[in-house]
Amino acid sequence: MELKNDLLIRAAKGEKVERTPVWLMRQAGRILPEYRAVRNSLSGFIELVKNPELAAEVTIQPVDILGVDAAIIFSDILVIPEAMGLPYEMVEKKGPWFPKTINSPEDLSNLKVADAESDLGYVLDAIKVTKKELDGRVPLIGFAGAPWTIFCYMIEGQGSKTFSKARKMLYNEPVMSDQLLQMITDSTIEYLRAQIAAGANIVQVFDSWAGILPSDHYQKFSMKYITQICDAIEEVPVTVFAKGAYFARPEMRHLNCETIGLDWNMGIAESRRLIGEGKTLQGNLDPCALYGSPSEIETATKKMLDDFGTSRHIANLGHGVYPDIDPEKVKVFIQTVKEYSAQLRAQ
Ligand code: CP3
Repeated sequence: MELKNDLLIRAAKGEKVERTPVWLMRQAGRILPEYRAVRNSLSGFIELVKNPELAAEVTIQPVDILGVDAAIIFSDILVIPEAMGLPYEMVEKKGPWFPKTINSPEDLSNLKVADAESDLGYVLDAIKVTKKELDGRVPLIGFAGAPWTIFCYMIEGQGSKTFSKARKMLYNEPVMSDQLLQMITDSTIEYLRAQIAAGANIVQVFDSWAGILPSDHYQKFSMKYITQICDAIEEVPVTVFAKGAYFARPEMRHLNCETIGLDWNMGIAESRRLIGEGKTLQGNLDPCALYGSPSEIETATKKMLDDFGTSRHIANLGHGVYPDIDPEKVKVFIQTVKEYSAQLRAQ
């Protein structure tokens, strides 16, 4: 299937584009009332994730309503622990919760490497339905959590400010930690490959808890596994978003991936210098900038575009869009990227 709008893919590969492509992390769900309506027709989040027709519908909503240049498949990073044998629940207004967690090396014997086709077929089906309904309008982004971030939830069993239980494990059980991280990595590689086979045009690895590790542990317990994932994916571009890992930017230069996501604390010029010209950079407007007035959003977005320049950039926020942001404000951000980035190229 030929893509009618392939700006995102061309930008990821470092090809010339007429304007900067734009999408938002967490654009599916979270902010649209149209999402709420679909979500409330079912008993919960997980039911929606496991319903390919409705997952496809909410995946496409931001394309129709917001005008983004890509869709991201509606799912969650926590489908991997579940597929490995550690099911999750999504508690309303609280977030993920795991009835069982990994506490000792013995617990690993209850886990397996996930089989994408049999354990995650519902995501692959959602991708196939989405691709059919998108009909090539924009690329579809597949995704997975980075092994370290998934490890955090499997040990901790829920969100945490410090993830100190997970970090304690790295000190007290380094061998077990490596074994678990390797199992997650093997599951993730197979899962991303299956997403690509089902139709994903690009894949993103979310390392949401990268920033809580000291840099030596980040190399040993996160980057090592992300490197394996990047090396294993050849068919489509790969984006690595490691939130808070400003200290790892010099090493990210060497990852076998096309795009590096920046959070809003990472300076744009400095990131370009550290990461080099060989990667596309994605980001990085402060998500809170969208609480500003339309003209403030316009000014902040133009400044971001000026700072990134016209080559190798995909516009996004520095993390997921916040749940109470007005979709009209998101549209101002998107419209400004589209118009101003085309103007910059015409100059
Ligand atoms: O980008 C998208 O919109 C596509 C779908 C998507 C979801 N989660 C749907 C979701 C994606 C890409 C994710 C990734 C994800 N999930 C991450 C990494 C990105 C990040 O934000 O750092 C993480 C850490 C999770 C784990 C998770 N899932 C948490 C902590 C929560 C609760 C709070 C929250 O972020 O919303 C979820 C639930 C979740 N995942 C919702 C959605 C739409 C809200 C649940 C609901 O509708 O009831």
